[in-house]
Formats: sequence, structure tokens, C-alpha cells
Amino acid sequence: MNKAHFMRDRVLGIDRELPLLDGSTVRYVNLDNAASTPPLVDVMRALEEFMPYYSSVHRGSGFKSRLSTRAYDEAHEVVAELVGADTRRNTVVFLRNSTEAINKVSHCLPEGSLVVTTVMEHHSNDLPWRDHHRVIHAGSTPEGRLDMDHLEEVLGENAGDVSLVAVAGASNVTGFIQPVHSIARSAHDIGAKILVDCAQLAPHRRIDVLPDDDEAHLDFVVLSAHKMYAPFGTGALVGPTDFFLEGGPDVSGGGTVKAVTLDGVHWQGMPKRGEAGSPNVPGAVAMAVAAKVLMEVGFDRIEEHESALASYAMGRLKDVEGITIYGDTSETDFQDRVGVIPFNLEGINHFLLTAILGFEGGVGTRSGCFCAHPYVLHLLGLSPEQLEDWKAGLIAGDVPEVAGMVRISLGCYSSREDVDRLMEMLDRINAGDYVGSYRKSDGICMFVPDGFPDPAEGYLRFW
Ligand SMILES: Cc1ncc(COP(=O)(O)O)c(C=O)c1O
Repeated sequence: MNKAHFMRDRVLGIDRELPLLDGSTVRYVNLDNAASTPPLVDVMRALEEFMPYYSSVHRGSGFKSRLSTRAYDEAHEVVAELVGADTRRNTVVFLRNSTEAINKVSHCLPEGSLVVTTVMEHHSNDLPWRDHHRVIHAGSTPEGRLDMDHLEEVLGENAGDVSLVAVAGASNVTGFIQPVHSIARSAHDIGAKILVDCAQLAPHRRIDVLPDDDEAHLDFVVLSAHKMYAPFGTGALVGPTDFFLEGGPDVSGGGTVKAVTLDGVHWQGMPKRGEAGSPNVPGAVAMAVAAKVLMEVGFDRIEEHESALASYAMGRLKDVEGITIYGDTSETDFQDRVGVIPFNLEGINHFLLTAILGFEGGVGTRSGCFCAHPYVLHLLGLSPEQLEDWKAGLIAGDVPEVAGMVRISLGCYSSREDVDRLMEMLDRINAGDYVGSYRKSDGICMFVPDGFPDPAEGYLRFW
């Protein structure tokens, strides 16, 4: 395969020509893969093949039910294979997304447990712990890296008390990859388990939970299918079967029980006990197909392509006039970082910048605080007064005005041409070379061009 076009024929819709503000069309460039990835062609094909056979799973005795049940059950095995989990002692649970998976672990931990997490987390790996437990946040260095000394200090000071260490495999703001196996060793040393939120890591790097008896073993791993080229409403939690069997299920109902009488309930084993209600069978099949494709393509090749492209993007971004790139920019080989780069351009609001990129450049990016407010605020280095203003602005609903940043995030199919389009647009924006006059909006975008109809309105209407 031509290296420049790595994976481009395997991902659906990435060469779509879409309208710009001036009525012209351009190939859409998606640089928002950390939010959600487009589906793989193989995933779509598998679903097209599967759906005519789709039927109820578990207990249905018809041909389609038997087939659907087998596909659903085997999808668990494929996800276990993706992360190297030993299913004799670990279970894969399919849930809606990473957020639900982390909430499940939080609900299953005894109330009031001590959880150590970091200030770098997505809210989904922070708030679920705050809801039910005591939480300590390990800090971040001024360059935005995890402060390992602080983390070790927190673990040492609370040895024997910490139940769980919860860290992201890779940050959704800076892409920094955490040394999860060495953190696992430290957690196990003090009697804690580790949960790794792999929502951002899984599409880019091979994850290996390692054997259960290895000190560096990852106890819980959380995955999001919509960030792994299978956006059909599924996430997965991999964790020790015994842990889930300790109490009743966190969510009860159909599917979780063996027998129910008016005065008693006998719960199912795992994973059924952990997957209340009718499961999302197509979502699980899609996720498993995507996992198979990623394994077959090989994470070495994915990493090689993405790291080279991210280095290229970083090199070019550094030359853009008036740019501030957040986080450590000293290492540019992207060995311990996935392709996520946050920045701001001097003199232009981050929401406005992404609006112009979208409306006039056909480039999809994201701006704001990326559901990781403490980390973004740390990177922005706001003064206490600015922080108060930021909070007041958000609470008052004046979202477009609050501090934040722009984020680009690469996928395995991203190309130099994609990065070049972004650069061309940033130069144009710096030169004031755009047609719209943008006003604040409380719609999908925080800024919209005045007097222009949104070309996406009326496009692809189903109802
Ligand atoms: C690091 C990280 N964790 C968790 C989540 C939440 O993922 P989901 O949408 O699957 O709940 C995200 C989503 O952006 C994320 O980036």
C-alpha cells in the first residue's frame, strides 16, 4: 500500500466532497478523531451482512437467535484478544460507552473507597469517582505531563488505603501516553488495583493487560467503539470476574438473573450479570470487527504512520504565526504521544477559529475544554481571577467567550494532505482571508457566519 494513503480505502466516507459557505465543494478533512472516528468499511460490510440475521440473543431458539447469540458472545472474546485478557479470570462487559464502563466500576467499588486519579483526566474518568468515593488527584507538570513524583508520593502516603488508581492510557487533550504498566506496579505494591481509561489509546496503540500474576498487569481496561472506527453505541469494560461477582449487579433487570421469586433473586454469572437488559448486538459485532481489523493491520504500522504524521503536523504548526501549542513540545517523535495537538492562535477566539475552519476550509476540528476542564485550565495557566471569570462565564451560559483551545486529532487514515489543508487555512485566517462575518450563536457551533445559510442545513434530510 502507498504509505501516503495508509488506510484510506478502509475507512468510510473520508473522501466526501462537501459544501463550503461560498457554495463550492471540497473534500472534507476530519481532524476530530479523538471525539469520534468514522466507521471502517469492513465494519459496515459486516453489519450489512449481519443485520438480515439480527435477532434476539440468549434463549431465542430460532436460527437467527442462535446465530446472533453466537456473534454477540464471540464479540466478547475478540475484545479480550484485543487487550490480551485471560478470559478464564477476566470478563469483557459490553456497555454503551467508556463513561458507562467507568461508572460501573465506580458503582461496584465499596462506597467511600479511596481512588487516586489525575488532574489530566476526561471528566468521565473523574466525576464517577467523585460521586461515590474519596478522590485524590495526582498533578501535572508545568509542561502538561503526568507528575509521576507526585503520583508516587500520593500512593506512598496512602499505602494500604487506596483501592483503585484510575488513569487515562492517553490524554484526550494532549495525547500524552501514560506509563500505565509502571503505574500498575506502583498501585499493586500498595495493594490497589488499576483502571486504565483506554478510550484514546485503543485506536492507536496495542494494549496488553499482561498476565494476571504480573505486577504490571492492568486490572481494568475501558474502551470506546466510537473512537475505534465502530460508532454504533458500544463501549467495553474488561476486568477481573471476581470483582463483579462480589455484590449484586450495579444495574439489575432482565438478563442479569438465573431465578427470581417474590422473595429472592439468584444472579447470573459474568458477563450477563453486568449487561442488564437487551444488549446492543450490532454495536458489539461492529466493535469486534473493528478490533480484528486493527489487529490485522497491526498497531506497529498504525503507530509508525500516525507518529510520522503527527511529527509533521507539529513541525508545521510550530511555524504558524501567533500560535501557542499547549503541553510539552520538546519531543516531536510522538513515541509516547498519540496524534492530538491543542493550540490557540493569537487574537482569535478558539470557537471562532474552529467555525471558520469548518465553514470555509472544510476542516473538522474541536474547541473548548474537551470535557477535561481541570487539565485544560492547568495548560492555559489562568490566574485565579481569570479562572473565576472562566467559571462565571460558563455558569452564566456565555460559553463562546470563555477560555479554551483548539484541538486537532489524527486518525489512522489521516494524511499529509489533511494537515496541509489545516495549515493553509490557518495562514488564511491569520491573514484575515475569510468571507464570513461571524456572530455568537447558541446552536451547534458557538460562532456562525452572519447572513449565510448553513450548507449543512437541508443536506441529507431523512424526515
Ligand atoms: C480519555 C477519554 N475517556 C473517556 C471518554 C468518554 O468516552 P465515551 O464517549 O465513550 O463515554 C472520552 C471521550 O472523549 C475520552 O477522550
